Amino acid sequence: MKVEIDGVTLHLAHPDELPVRWVGQEELMRQLLAAWMVVTDLDIPMSPRLIGKPGVGKTTLAYAAARRMGRDVFIMQATLDTRPEDLLVTPVIEGAGRLRYVASPLVSAMLLGGIAILDEGNRMSEKSWASLAPLLDNRRYVESVVAGVKIRAHKNFRLVTTMNDDSSTFELPEYIHSRLQPQILIDFPEKDEELRILKENLPFAEDRILQYVTDFLEQAHAADERYSVRDGINIARYAIKLKSLATDREHERKALELAIEQTLGEEALRYARRNRIVTT
Ligand SMILES: Nc1ncnc2c1ncn2[C@@H]1O[C@H](COP(=O)(O)OP(=O)(O)OP(=O)(O)O)[C@@H](O)[C@H]1O
Ligand SMILES: [Mg+2]
Repeated sequence: MKVEIDGVTLHLAHPDELPVRWVGQEELMRQLLAAWMVVTDLDIPMSPRLIGKPGVGKTTLAYAAARRMGRDVFIMQATLDTRPEDLLVTPVIEGAGRLRYVASPLVSAMLLGGIAILDEGNRMSEKSWASLAPLLDNRRYVESVVAGVKIRAHKNFRLVTTMNDDSSTFELPEYIHSRLQPQILIDFPEKDEELRILKENLPFAEDRILQYVTDFLEQAHAADERYSVRDGINIARYAIKLKSLATDREHERKALELAIEQTLGEEALRYARRNRIVTT
Protein backbone atom coordinates (compact mmCIF):
# COMPACT_ATOMS: atom_id res chain seq x y z
CA MET A 1 0.00 0.00 0.00
CA LYS A 2 1.12 3.55 -0.80
CA VAL A 3 0.33 7.01 0.54
CA GLU A 4 1.39 10.33 -0.94
CA ILE A 5 2.40 13.22 1.32
CA ASP A 6 3.51 16.55 -0.19
CA GLY A 7 4.39 14.81 -3.44
CA VAL A 8 6.44 12.08 -1.75
CA THR A 9 5.19 8.49 -2.03
CA LEU A 10 5.56 6.37 1.09
CA HIS A 11 5.29 2.59 0.89
CA LEU A 12 3.54 1.22 3.95
CA ALA A 13 4.17 -1.88 6.04
CA HIS A 14 1.64 -4.66 6.58
CA PRO A 15 -0.05 -5.11 9.95
CA ASP A 16 1.03 -7.99 12.19
CA GLU A 17 -1.26 -10.96 12.76
CA LEU A 18 -0.61 -12.95 15.92
CA PRO A 19 -2.79 -15.74 17.28
CA VAL A 20 -2.78 -14.49 20.88
CA ARG A 21 -5.44 -14.01 23.49
CA TRP A 22 -4.96 -12.26 26.85
CA VAL A 23 -5.94 -14.44 29.80
CA GLY A 24 -6.60 -13.14 33.32
CA GLN A 25 -5.41 -9.83 34.81
CA GLU A 26 -8.36 -7.89 33.31
CA GLU A 27 -7.42 -4.83 35.35
CA LEU A 28 -4.24 -4.37 33.28
CA MET A 29 -6.28 -4.57 30.08
CA ARG A 30 -8.67 -1.96 31.48
CA GLN A 31 -5.80 0.40 32.32
CA LEU A 32 -4.28 0.14 28.87
CA LEU A 33 -7.61 0.67 27.09
CA ALA A 34 -8.36 3.62 29.39
CA ALA A 35 -5.04 5.27 28.51
CA TRP A 36 -5.87 4.99 24.82
CA MET A 37 -9.45 6.22 24.94
CA VAL A 38 -10.57 9.80 24.42
CA VAL A 39 -13.51 11.05 26.49
CA THR A 40 -14.39 14.09 24.32
CA ASP A 41 -13.22 15.74 21.10
CA LEU A 42 -10.97 17.95 23.20
CA ASP A 43 -9.18 15.00 24.74
CA ILE A 44 -6.07 13.26 23.35
CA PRO A 45 -5.01 9.65 23.83
CA MET A 46 -2.01 8.75 26.00
CA SER A 47 0.99 6.59 25.08
CA PRO A 48 1.56 4.18 27.94
CA ARG A 49 4.55 2.12 28.90
CA LEU A 50 4.16 -1.54 29.85
CA ILE A 51 6.87 -2.48 32.30
CA GLY A 52 7.79 -5.87 33.65
CA LYS A 53 10.25 -8.73 33.72
CA PRO A 54 11.03 -10.63 30.50
CA GLY A 55 8.29 -13.06 29.52
CA VAL A 56 5.51 -11.77 31.80
CA GLY A 57 3.24 -10.92 28.87
CA LYS A 58 3.97 -7.29 27.93
CA THR A 59 3.86 -7.78 24.16
CA THR A 60 0.88 -10.11 24.49
CA LEU A 61 -1.10 -7.53 26.49
CA ALA A 62 -0.27 -4.74 24.04
CA TYR A 63 -1.30 -6.84 21.07
CA ALA A 64 -4.45 -8.22 22.64
CA ALA A 65 -5.60 -4.75 23.75
CA ALA A 66 -5.03 -3.36 20.27
CA ARG A 67 -7.07 -6.18 18.77
CA ARG A 68 -9.81 -5.58 21.32
CA MET A 69 -10.05 -2.04 19.94
CA GLY A 70 -10.58 -3.67 16.54
CA ARG A 71 -7.58 -1.93 15.02
CA ASP A 72 -4.67 -3.12 12.89
CA VAL A 73 -1.49 -3.62 14.88
CA PHE A 74 2.03 -2.78 13.77
CA ILE A 75 4.85 -4.12 15.91
CA MET A 76 8.19 -2.37 15.78
CA GLN A 77 11.11 -4.03 17.50
CA ALA A 78 13.45 -1.49 19.08
CA THR A 79 17.12 -2.43 19.41
CA LEU A 80 20.36 -0.81 20.51
CA ASP A 81 21.02 0.43 17.00
CA THR A 82 17.54 1.55 15.97
CA ARG A 83 18.11 4.90 14.24
CA PRO A 84 15.56 7.71 13.85
CA GLU A 85 15.09 6.86 10.16
CA ASP A 86 14.41 3.21 11.07
CA LEU A 87 11.57 4.49 13.24
CA LEU A 88 10.22 6.79 10.54
CA VAL A 89 11.09 6.42 6.84
CA THR A 90 14.02 4.60 5.19
CA PRO A 91 15.17 5.14 1.61
CA VAL A 92 15.65 2.03 -0.50
CA ILE A 93 17.36 2.08 -3.89
CA GLU A 94 14.83 1.10 -6.53
CA GLY A 95 17.19 0.94 -9.52
CA ALA A 96 18.15 3.54 -12.11
CA GLY A 97 19.10 6.03 -9.40
CA ARG A 98 15.58 6.10 -8.03
CA LEU A 99 14.74 5.94 -4.35
CA ARG A 100 11.72 4.32 -2.79
CA TYR A 101 10.65 5.63 0.61
CA VAL A 102 9.56 2.89 2.94
CA ALA A 103 7.49 3.78 6.00
CA SER A 104 8.28 1.99 9.24
CA PRO A 105 5.57 -0.07 10.97
CA LEU A 106 5.15 2.89 13.33
CA VAL A 107 4.59 5.44 10.55
CA SER A 108 2.33 2.95 8.74
CA ALA A 109 0.19 2.78 11.90
CA MET A 110 0.17 6.59 12.08
CA LEU A 111 -1.08 6.90 8.51
CA LEU A 112 -3.62 4.07 8.62
CA GLY A 113 -5.05 4.81 12.07
CA GLY A 114 -3.62 1.61 13.51
CA ILE A 115 -1.88 0.82 16.76
CA ALA A 116 1.90 0.80 17.04
CA ILE A 117 3.67 -1.37 19.58
CA LEU A 118 7.20 -0.10 20.08
CA ASP A 119 8.52 -3.28 21.59
CA GLU A 120 11.42 -3.23 24.07
CA GLY A 121 11.62 0.55 23.87
CA ASN A 122 14.18 0.65 26.66
CA ARG A 123 16.78 -0.68 24.21
CA MET A 124 16.52 2.37 22.02
CA SER A 125 18.76 5.43 22.38
CA GLU A 126 17.68 8.90 23.42
CA LYS A 127 18.42 10.17 19.90
CA SER A 128 15.85 7.82 18.42
CA TRP A 129 13.29 8.61 21.12
CA ALA A 130 13.83 12.31 20.47
CA SER A 131 12.57 11.90 16.90
CA LEU A 132 9.24 10.77 18.38
CA ALA A 133 8.86 13.61 20.89
CA PRO A 134 6.32 15.63 18.84
CA LEU A 135 4.32 12.49 18.15
CA LEU A 136 3.98 11.79 21.85
CA ASP A 137 2.47 15.13 22.87
CA ASN A 138 -0.48 17.08 21.51
CA ARG A 139 1.32 17.81 18.21
CA ARG A 140 0.93 14.19 17.05
CA TYR A 141 3.32 14.38 14.09
CA VAL A 142 6.83 13.27 13.13
CA GLU A 143 9.28 14.83 10.72
CA SER A 144 11.17 12.57 8.36
CA VAL A 145 14.43 14.24 7.44
CA VAL A 146 15.16 11.51 4.92
CA ALA A 147 11.94 11.96 2.93
CA GLY A 148 11.60 15.66 3.74
CA VAL A 149 8.01 15.40 4.94
CA LYS A 150 5.99 16.08 8.04
CA ILE A 151 3.73 13.14 8.81
CA ARG A 152 0.61 13.66 10.92
CA ALA A 153 -0.97 10.86 12.90
CA HIS A 154 -4.51 9.73 12.02
CA LYS A 155 -6.92 10.44 14.88
CA ASN A 156 -7.26 6.72 15.58
CA PHE A 157 -3.52 6.19 15.89
CA ARG A 158 -2.36 4.84 19.24
CA LEU A 159 1.07 3.92 20.59
CA VAL A 160 2.30 1.74 23.41
CA THR A 161 5.84 0.82 24.30
CA THR A 162 7.03 -2.16 26.30
CA MET A 163 10.08 -2.06 28.54
CA ASN A 164 11.93 -4.75 30.46
CA ASP A 165 13.00 -3.87 33.94
CA ASP A 166 16.39 -5.53 33.38
CA SER A 167 19.74 -3.78 33.11
CA SER A 168 20.16 -3.76 29.32
CA THR A 169 18.48 -0.41 29.11
CA PHE A 170 19.12 3.18 28.27
CA GLU A 171 18.22 5.63 30.98
CA LEU A 172 15.70 7.82 29.21
CA PRO A 173 15.64 11.57 29.83
CA GLU A 174 12.78 13.15 31.69
CA TYR A 175 11.13 14.75 28.64
CA ILE A 176 10.72 11.30 27.10
CA HIS A 177 9.61 9.66 30.35
CA SER A 178 6.95 12.29 30.85
CA ARG A 179 5.53 11.60 27.38
CA LEU A 180 5.27 7.84 27.96
CA GLN A 181 2.57 7.81 30.59
CA PRO A 182 0.94 6.09 32.33
CA GLN A 183 3.31 3.32 33.41
CA ILE A 184 1.49 0.03 33.65
CA LEU A 185 3.37 -2.54 35.70
CA ILE A 186 2.88 -6.19 34.83
CA ASP A 187 3.66 -8.62 37.59
CA PHE A 188 3.52 -12.41 37.65
CA PRO A 189 -0.06 -13.66 37.48
CA GLU A 190 -1.83 -15.49 40.31
CA LYS A 191 -1.46 -19.27 40.34
CA ASP A 192 -4.89 -20.05 38.86
CA GLU A 193 -4.35 -17.45 36.13
CA GLU A 194 -0.95 -18.86 35.34
CA LEU A 195 -2.54 -22.27 34.87
CA ARG A 196 -5.14 -20.77 32.54
CA ILE A 197 -2.41 -19.00 30.56
CA LEU A 198 -0.52 -22.28 30.14
CA LYS A 199 -3.75 -23.95 28.99
CA GLU A 200 -4.43 -21.15 26.51
CA ASN A 201 -0.98 -21.50 25.00
CA LEU A 202 -0.83 -25.32 25.14
CA PRO A 203 -4.43 -26.49 24.66
CA PHE A 204 -3.25 -30.02 23.81
CA ALA A 205 -1.28 -30.52 27.06
CA GLU A 206 -2.39 -32.93 29.78
CA ASP A 207 -3.62 -31.24 32.93
CA ARG A 208 -1.13 -33.05 35.13
CA ILE A 209 1.80 -31.54 33.27
CA LEU A 210 0.37 -28.03 33.41
CA GLN A 211 -0.37 -28.41 37.14
CA TYR A 212 3.20 -29.49 37.75
CA VAL A 213 4.63 -26.53 35.83
CA THR A 214 2.28 -24.05 37.52
CA ASP A 215 3.34 -25.42 40.87
CA PHE A 216 6.99 -25.04 39.86
CA LEU A 217 6.44 -21.42 38.80
CA GLU A 218 4.63 -20.61 42.02
CA GLN A 219 7.59 -21.86 44.06
CA ALA A 220 10.02 -19.91 41.92
CA HIS A 221 7.95 -16.69 42.19
CA ALA A 222 7.84 -17.08 45.95
CA ALA A 223 11.64 -17.24 45.96
CA ASP A 224 11.79 -14.10 43.79
CA GLU A 225 13.29 -15.85 40.78
CA ARG A 226 12.81 -14.30 37.36
CA TYR A 227 11.30 -17.42 35.82
CA SER A 228 8.31 -16.37 33.75
CA VAL A 229 5.18 -17.68 32.11
CA ARG A 230 7.20 -17.99 28.92
CA ASP A 231 9.68 -20.27 30.71
CA GLY A 232 6.74 -22.31 31.98
CA ILE A 233 5.32 -22.64 28.48
CA ASN A 234 8.72 -23.75 27.15
CA ILE A 235 9.17 -26.29 29.95
CA ALA A 236 5.73 -27.80 29.43
CA ARG A 237 6.08 -27.83 25.65
CA TYR A 238 9.45 -29.55 25.75
CA ALA A 239 8.34 -32.04 28.43
CA ILE A 240 5.38 -33.04 26.25
CA LYS A 241 7.70 -33.65 23.31
CA LEU A 242 10.16 -35.64 25.43
CA LYS A 243 7.38 -37.70 26.89
CA SER A 244 6.03 -38.59 23.47
CA LEU A 245 9.40 -40.13 22.58
CA ALA A 246 9.98 -41.77 25.99
CA THR A 247 10.88 -45.39 26.42
CA ASP A 248 10.71 -46.08 30.14
CA ARG A 249 7.90 -46.00 32.69
CA GLU A 250 9.09 -43.04 34.71
CA HIS A 251 8.89 -40.95 31.58
CA GLU A 252 6.68 -38.07 32.72
CA ARG A 253 8.55 -36.89 35.79
CA LYS A 254 11.89 -37.38 34.04
CA ALA A 255 10.68 -35.43 31.05
CA LEU A 256 9.54 -32.53 33.25
CA GLU A 257 12.79 -32.42 35.20
CA LEU A 258 14.90 -32.57 32.08
CA ALA A 259 12.77 -29.84 30.53
CA ILE A 260 13.30 -27.60 33.58
CA GLU A 261 17.04 -28.25 33.54
CA GLN A 262 17.43 -27.60 29.85
CA THR A 263 15.25 -24.49 29.92
CA LEU A 264 16.48 -22.75 33.07
CA GLY A 265 19.55 -24.65 34.23
CA GLU A 266 20.14 -27.17 36.97
CA GLU A 267 19.64 -24.72 39.83
CA ALA A 268 16.00 -24.34 38.83
CA LEU A 269 15.37 -27.97 39.83
CA ARG A 270 15.22 -26.96 43.46
CA TYR A 271 11.71 -25.61 42.79
CA ALA A 272 10.54 -28.85 41.21
CA ARG A 273 8.03 -30.85 43.24
CA ARG A 274 10.14 -33.89 44.10
CA ASN A 275 13.20 -31.93 45.22
CA ARG A 276 11.50 -29.54 47.57
CA ILE A 277 12.04 -29.88 51.28
CA VAL A 278 8.58 -29.83 52.76
CA THR A 279 8.39 -28.01 56.08
CA THR A 280 5.26 -28.06 58.18
N1 LIG B 1 -1.96 -13.12 30.34
C1 LIG B 1 -1.56 -13.89 29.33
N2 LIG B 1 -2.45 -14.45 28.48
C2 LIG B 1 -2.05 -15.25 27.47
N3 LIG B 1 -0.77 -15.56 27.21
C3 LIG B 1 0.17 -15.03 28.01
C4 LIG B 1 -0.16 -14.16 29.10
N4 LIG B 1 0.97 -13.78 29.73
C5 LIG B 1 1.96 -14.37 29.06
N5 LIG B 1 1.50 -15.13 28.03
C6 LIG B 1 2.31 -15.95 27.12
O1 LIG B 1 3.64 -15.94 27.64
C7 LIG B 1 4.59 -15.78 26.60
C8 LIG B 1 5.44 -14.56 26.88
O2 LIG B 1 4.67 -13.40 26.75
P1 LIG B 1 5.22 -12.08 26.05
O3 LIG B 1 6.06 -12.43 24.87
O4 LIG B 1 4.06 -11.18 25.85
O5 LIG B 1 6.16 -11.52 27.21
P2 LIG B 1 7.03 -10.18 27.25
O6 LIG B 1 6.80 -9.60 28.59
O7 LIG B 1 6.73 -9.35 26.06
O8 LIG B 1 8.50 -10.75 27.17
P3 LIG B 1 9.87 -10.03 26.67
O9 LIG B 1 10.22 -9.05 27.72
O10 LIG B 1 10.86 -11.13 26.60
O11 LIG B 1 9.55 -9.42 25.35
C9 LIG B 1 3.81 -15.71 25.31
O12 LIG B 1 3.85 -17.00 24.73
C10 LIG B 1 2.39 -15.38 25.72
O13 LIG B 1 1.47 -15.99 24.86
MG1 LIG C 1 7.92 -8.74 24.50
